[in-house]
Amino acid sequence: MKGGLSLHGAAIEIASGALDSLGQRIAERVPEHRVALIADQHVAAIYGEQALAAVRAVSAGEPLLLTFPAGERHKTRHTWGALTDQLVAARYGRDSAIVALGGGVTGDLAGFVAATFLRGVPLVQVPTTLLSMIDAAIGGKTGVDTAAGKNLVGAFHHPALVLVDPRVLATLPPNELRSGLAEAIKHGVIADAAYFGWIAANLRQILHGDRPDDATALQLVQRSIEIKVKVVRQDERESGLRKVLNFGHTVGHAIEQVTGYGIAHGDAVAIGMVAEAILAERLRLAERGLADSIATVCDAAGLPVRLPEGVSPTEVVSATRTDKKSRGGRVEYALPRALGEMAGADNGYGFAATDADVLRSIEHL
Ligand SMILES: NC(=O)c1ccc[n+]([C@@H]2O[C@H](COP(=O)([O-])OP(=O)(O)OC[C@H]3O[C@@H](n4cnc5c(N)ncnc54)[C@H](O)[C@@H]3O)[C@@H](O)[C@H]2O)c1
Ligand SMILES: [Zn+2]
Repeated sequence: MKGGLSLHGAAIEIASGALDSLGQRIAERVPEHRVALIADQHVAAIYGEQALAAVRAVSAGEPLLLTFPAGERHKTRHTWGALTDQLVAARYGRDSAIVALGGGVTGDLAGFVAATFLRGVPLVQVPTTLLSMIDAAIGGKTGVDTAAGKNLVGAFHHPALVLVDPRVLATLPPNELRSGLAEAIKHGVIADAAYFGWIAANLRQILHGDRPDDATALQLVQRSIEIKVKVVRQDERESGLRKVLNFGHTVGHAIEQVTGYGIAHGDAVAIGMVAEAILAERLRLAERGLADSIATVCDAAGLPVRLPEGVSPTEVVSATRTDKKSRGGRVEYALPRALGEMAGADNGYGFAATDADVLRSIEHL
């Protein structure tokens, strides 16, 4: 068993085939609880029976598998309400443990159910997409979208256990794998040049036949999780470090907004990383060639590195202003200095950039 990581009291266990040991791990971390698995219908059809079988012997009372239709548009208060009502109807009580089995949508939604049901019951995250393994399931953020925007309603609710089985990536659609890979590349840029190089050198294995082999998947997921855990942990000491996880995301979110979320998150982040690295070079924070290195790896991974057809750079710059990170009229960016190193450790990792600089960087793509 690889692993041994923890964050906010959550044990983070990473191992190929770990899904089959879900019951044992629950018995250790949240003993004598009645288990409710929550999954979207798609994931439930592939892994629902396997997960139910794994938890049956340790659940205090018959475990249930609750499902909802897959997709971001179901990450709503409506679905949260329906899932909560099903727990009430099945007479779940204070001894409930919620298991989120799925991607980031399921993790956020089921996590919010766990945060609020009877004012909070234990949560176990079993992430099944690359993005949720290395990002969404780590850090304790849960919540739902509203018509006014994404993730507007939510709560911090730290899981008791995060169980990561990279083997389930075998069934993940290739576009979802690529989308998660953008975040792994980001982790390399912000914290670990060697990891960035490893991803570049192993792209073929990672995407081979559109899926990584066991050893490669384990290594990819393990290192990325270590980086996210380290950053989130250090941030508790108020270093502002968590901001560095936002690299590529200010321009990325703006592109998502301008396209009406018609672009995959990872695609938007890839373009955003290249644009923000160009910005870092323009501001003379980064060494020359950094943006090129990032663009080369993203491109080789099948991620876009230019604005989609018909999207104007000016529109994207305007959209950056509605991002949460704007302060005093200027938008703040977390920018890299070199591969594996972020600039501005002594000023909280935030750089206010002018619209003109951002526009030129995007036009340069
Ligand atoms: N809480 C956080 O800190 C945080 C961080 C990043 C993103 N997020 C959230 O994560 C969400 C995106 O997550 P996502 O990209 O995982 O999307 P997702 O949960 O919608 O999963 C993507 C698709 O893959 C399918 N799927 C999942 N696992 C599979 C598997 N192993 N095999 C086959 N199909 C599988 C799902 O059914 C779905 O159709 C967004 O809502 C975002 O806001 C949260
Ligand atoms: Zn992201």
